[in-house]
Amino acid sequence: MSEQKDIFILAIESSCDETAAAVVKNGREVLSNVISSQIELHKLYGGVVPEIASRKHIEKINQVIEEALSDAKMTLDDIDAIGVTYGPGLVGALLVGVAEAKAIAYAKNLPLVGVHHIEGHILANFIENKELEPPFICLVVSGGHTHLVCVKDYGTYEIIGRTRDDAAGEAFDKVARAIGLGYPGGPKIENLSKEGNPEAIAFPRAKIEGFQYDFSFSGVKSAVLNYINGCQMKGETYVEADIAASFQKAVIDVLAGNAMHAVKEYGLNKFAIAGGVASNGTLREAMREACEENGIEFYHPSPIFCTDNAAMIGVAAYYEYLSGTRHGWDLNAVPNLKLGER
Ligand code: KG4
Ligand code: ZN
Repeated sequence: MSEQKDIFILAIESSCDETAAAVVKNGREVLSNVISSQIELHKLYGGVVPEIASRKHIEKINQVIEEALSDAKMTLDDIDAIGVTYGPGLVGALLVGVAEAKAIAYAKNLPLVGVHHIEGHILANFIENKELEPPFICLVVSGGHTHLVCVKDYGTYEIIGRTRDDAAGEAFDKVARAIGLGYPGGPKIENLSKEGNPEAIAFPRAKIEGFQYDFSFSGVKSAVLNYINGCQMKGETYVEADIAASFQKAVIDVLAGNAMHAVKEYGLNKFAIAGGVASNGTLREAMREACEENGIEFYHPSPIFCTDNAAMIGVAAYYEYLSGTRHGWDLNAVPNLKLGER
């Protein structure tokens, strides 16, 4: 293999409620990005039902992969390696992608590269920011994770802060449920917030003594529930849009505060955001302003590369592939896989 040869990765993602496949060229060029969302199905139950997610992945995965290949105008014969999310996530959901990836890799005699889902979210920043290189600080805010990560080099991560309880996205989903907005809560809170006053209600901004980069969102979530209960008990009306806007502001203030602190403390001048919550326009604006004030370069993926997708898995698989990561036929789903583990 000559050094100049283009590397095409077929990537598969099925860790939660999106069945996704993508073809990525040389790590940063997305040739196709197909996402089949199960949101409409899980909405009926107010959240993701793991058993339903697994079954739906099985139904959809072949079709999604065929579409990803045809959108990229390719066949499996053009592919150099198969990348797949093998954790963290729902075990039954992950297994569908892992089994599919192994079957294709075995049948076509291709290298198999297992990818950490959060590594994918972080590296989604490379797709539209071709100049971005480590080291930088990344805030990963998704439905399952809230991590402040120092990306020291390709494949070398240091988690410098994390949530002690709920993930940021989880807090959005729970508050949305309390206001009666339904699932998934993030985009609904964001929309309703546009009509509300973010200063109307003083919800708490949690700080964790001695752990300046850690987060806690269960307090703000409880404060919202208490506020609603209090109003109901006193027979007072409340403005849902004000609750949404004030809650969103409280979460964003803490995320931005801890993140800026970390970027400065680590002596870096590059900051990126990632994960489903990073598609929130108000959060993006707040981060842009905070970075501008502090003379920090700000990076973010487009919303479609923030929420779960396989293009980001293709990016991560490419860098893992370059560094020599190869998985065997014993690759298994690891629901609680730690970032940086092999
Ligand atoms: O990254 P993601 O698609 O899946 C996980 O890996 O968890 O993130 C999903 C989470 C959900 O909690 C969803 O409510 C939240 O991201 N989310 C948002 C927005 N869009 C999605 N949260 C706030 N504002 C949004 N616009
Ligand atoms: Zn995700």
